[in-house]
Amino acid sequence: MTRAAHDLIPREIVEFIGAEPTQEQWRAISWPLEPCVVVAGAGSGKTSVMAARVIWLALRYADSDGTDGALPGNVLCLTFTNKATENLVFRIRKALSTLQLEEGEEPEVTNYHGFAQQLLERYGMLDGIEPGQRVLTPAQRVELCSRVLDLMPFEHLSSEWQPTIVGNILDLADQAQNHLVDPHEIVEFNEERLEALSQHRSDRAYRAAQERVELANAVARFQELKRELGVIDFGDQIALAARVVRNHPEVGEESSRTPSRGSRN
Ligand SMILES: Nc1ncnc2c1ncn2[C@@H]1O[C@H](COP(=O)(O)OP(=O)(O)OP(=O)(O)O)[C@@H](O)[C@H]1O
Ligand SMILES: [Mg+2]
Repeated sequence: MTRAAHDLIPREIVEFIGAEPTQEQWRAISWPLEPCVVVAGAGSGKTSVMAARVIWLALRYADSDGTDGALPGNVLCLTFTNKATENLVFRIRKALSTLQLEEGEEPEVTNYHGFAQQLLERYGMLDGIEPGQRVLTPAQRVELCSRVLDLMPFEHLSSEWQPTIVGNILDLADQAQNHLVDPHEIVEFNEERLEALSQHRSDRAYRAAQERVELANAVARFQELKRELGVIDFGDQIALAARVVRNHPEVGEESSRTPSRGSRN
């Protein structure tokens, strides 16, 4: 690390980590208020960096008379699992205890699914999603998906074994949601391929595309079934919340203006 960077690192951050942050950590901690993706492996200090960044933003806020940085109460921290959320809350409390802040000045720490659910509850109606949707457990999801097999004929899917077909439908449903792709787009794409593939002599690729069309239609039917019953699954939480904020940019603007502290618990 260069001498100049070293001199800039606040004592509070070194005390909190219990050591000097590495150069990469310091760049992430002190990144300006703009988007940045940091790719870091297990045990590399991700949680430490997130907590240290909350301190850094609070220090910048104080030093700049509120023109830069952010108060902890205006920071949102998202993690993937509940356990990581607990760990981050604990580390952030420890980190903030080194600063003289008002009582209760804490960031909102939650996980992606919990945050997506909050967005759906508050703003889902903008996109026709009623509040209070029940979230399916993985077992209920399998059960509901197996109903699709009674609702549509399967001519091309090669497996006769029902759990395999259900598993394949759910896998494709997950992939589609994670990539924010509508199952009808998958149907359309593969139907176009069918035309091109029909010119070829080998029919293996053709059959694979036929199966894909059938599978994607089953995914679409499964999504409809959930909508009809007013239930969602974990994938829907993310995909629907992303759709709401994409279709309604004012949601992001409003959420960033509204301090989140009042709505926690
Ligand atoms: N620059 C550093 N110097 C020394 N120790 C550090 C440094 N950064 C982090 N650590 C220590 O390394 C350990 C792992 O850090 P941390 O828990 O932040 O990593 P993580 O990437 O979140 O881990 P996980 O993948 O388990 O979630 C902690 O004990 C932390 O105090
Ligand atoms: Mg961690």
